[in-house]
Amino acid sequence: MALDTIYPTPRVGAQIKLGREELLSGRHAGEIRDILEYRGVVYIRGADFSDEDLHTLAGTLGEIRLDGKDGVKKESLMKVTFDKKHSHLTEYFLGTFTWHFDGFWEERPPRASVLAPRVLAPTGGETEFINTYAAYDDLPADRKQFFDGLMTAHTMERTHGRVYKEPTEEQLRDWRGYGVKIHPLIWQHQSGRKSIALSSSSHYIVDMDRAESDDLLAWIADWCEQPKFVYSHDWQMGDVLIWDNTGTMHRAAPYDMESGRRLHRVTLVGEEPLSPVGQMASL
Ligand SMILES: [Fe+2]
Repeated sequence: MALDTIYPTPRVGAQIKLGREELLSGRHAGEIRDILEYRGVVYIRGADFSDEDLHTLAGTLGEIRLDGKDGVKKESLMKVTFDKKHSHLTEYFLGTFTWHFDGFWEERPPRASVLAPRVLAPTGGETEFINTYAAYDDLPADRKQFFDGLMTAHTMERTHGRVYKEPTEEQLRDWRGYGVKIHPLIWQHQSGRKSIALSSSSHYIVDMDRAESDDLLAWIADWCEQPKFVYSHDWQMGDVLIWDNTGTMHRAAPYDMESGRRLHRVTLVGEEPLSPVGQMASL
C-alpha cells in the first residue's frame, strides 16, 4: 500500500504519516528513499524519537557515518547548535545560514541526514531546502546544454568567507586545508537524473573569466532560490526530518544564536560520486 503522504509544496518536501513501529521497522525504507529522491525532504510530525531511534531510522535507510573534527573522537550523532556545552563545532555552524550541500570536499558527499529538534528558538530557525533536481529540470534547454560541460571549483574559504569578513590566520589555514575541489556543475546521478551541484562553497567556474564566473554563479543561485523550488520546514518538537543531501541545498533561517536551539543529526555515508569516479580534482 502506498504511504500516506502530504505534499507541502508542489515540487519539494513530503510529510509521511507512519507510526513509530512502522518507521523503525525499515519496511518502508525503499519507499522513503524513493520519495526522498523526488521531493528532497521527508518529514514525520509527532514521532518523538530518541537519539537511539534516530540511529535506528537512519540505519534502515543507509550506512551511518561518523563525523567530527580531526583529532577529536568522531561520532555518529552531531549536535547542531551554537551552545558550546553541546558542541565543539560551533564555529563551523555559521556556514549553516548559507545555501549548501554537505561534504563538497569528499568524493562521495553524504547521502542523506536525519534531523530532530531538541531545543527550538522562540522564532525563526526554520530549516530550508531547495530541490536541485527540480531546479535542473526546469532550466531552459540552452542553459542545460551550456552547463553540462562546466566544472566548478569549491573551497571552504568561499563558504566561510560569506560569514566571516575578517578571518584570522588560523581560520584561513584551517579552511585552506580542505583544498580546492573541482566538480561538475551538473551532478549526473547513477539513476540517469541530473541536479545542479551548487553550494556556498562554489567559488568559480573553471576556465572562465572571473567576472563572468561570478555573474553566472549568481544567476544560478537566483534560479535555484525561486520559491517554487524551496521548502521551509517550520519545526515542531517531536518532528523527524530526512533530507537527500545529493539532490538539495539546505540552510537555516536566521534565529537568536543565544537561544540554545539544538538539533540532533545522524548522517548517512555517501553512495555515489559527484565527479565521475576517480576524477575529482584537487588543486
Ligand atoms: Fe549542512
